[in-house]
Amino acid sequence: MMRRLIGEDIELVTVLPPDLSAIKADASQIEQVIINLAVNARDAMPQGGKLIIETANVHLDEGYAQIHASVKPGPYVMLAVSDNGTGMDTRTMAHIFEPFFTTKEKGKGTGLGLATVYGIVKQSEGYIWVYSEPGHGTSFKVYLPQAEAIKEKDAARTVEIQPAAPHGSETVLLVEDEDGVRSLVRGILEAGGYKVLDANRPLKAWAASQQFDGPIHLLLTDVVMPQMNGPDLAEKLKVLRPKTKVLYMSGYTDGAILYHGVLQPGTPFLQKPFTPEVLARKVREVLDASII
Ligand SMILES: Nc1ncnc2c1ncn2[C@@H]1O[C@H](COP(=O)(O)OP(=O)(O)O)[C@@H](O)[C@H]1O
Ligand SMILES: [Mg+2]
Repeated sequence: MMRRLIGEDIELVTVLPPDLSAIKADASQIEQVIINLAVNARDAMPQGGKLIIETANVHLDEGYAQIHASVKPGPYVMLAVSDNGTGMDTRTMAHIFEPFFTTKEKGKGTGLGLATVYGIVKQSEGYIWVYSEPGHGTSFKVYLPQAEAIKEKDAARTVEIQPAAPHGSETVLLVEDEDGVRSLVRGILEAGGYKVLDANRPLKAWAASQQFDGPIHLLLTDVVMPQMNGPDLAEKLKVLRPKTKVLYMSGYTDGAILYHGVLQPGTPFLQKPFTPEVLARKVREVLDASII
């Protein structure tokens, strides 16, 4: 049905792990969520493109709850629908879940698709999160709580094997335009012993790196930013600081970043939102890796 819905010019990619946990929801409602998100993705790619559907088991923790005030920490299943279409500016994004809000011409849009999706997600005690940049496509991420039995088992397991978060003393240059995310990441890194230089814009990061005398061990940067994207900043920085390692982070999903060719396969990458634990581990892993 999905292929018929999206037409021939759009490639459908699915990234579905076999061990996905169960959720408790109405199957036909979840189908409606997927269809509405897929139709919107199709409409955003009139010249064709890629539609990526991904699922994953994720744990939303206190750190995530801090920036998204209403989130209850716990194990969730993520369902993400991404496209590499027109994307949206923040002004459009602020209204998309409102009933009857549409940017489509008369007769094409009803403005009810996302309002319906939002209603279903809320009814299923989940959350929906959108990440988009004009010209760079969109990722919608739906989080639905894992079913009760699994929830308890998982909680017991995480308590058992929780190791101390890895730490270090290296210098990290952090580039992220969202203030809330930047200060959270900075806080996590500083608590782990790292020295942090931060910037909300690539050009400011570039200036900071020129002013800073010591070594910069790691560039931790957003991928899609105004002025200059993450990979271009990394390339520029590497000319003067060839030893600096790079870790990318983005609100787009792994699949979207990879399948849209923004980053080369194998490039260290963190998908937002991430937990402090995952951030700490990934930073340590990239710093300790022998290849640059
Ligand atoms: N994947 C997407 N890419 C770009 N814009 C989108 C996407 N999904 C939704 N939108 C925006 O959100 C608006 C509301 O979507 P929706 O509620 O489904 O209504 P409709 O599709 O009828 O316009 C759309 O008109 C469009 O501006
Ligand atoms: Mg729609």
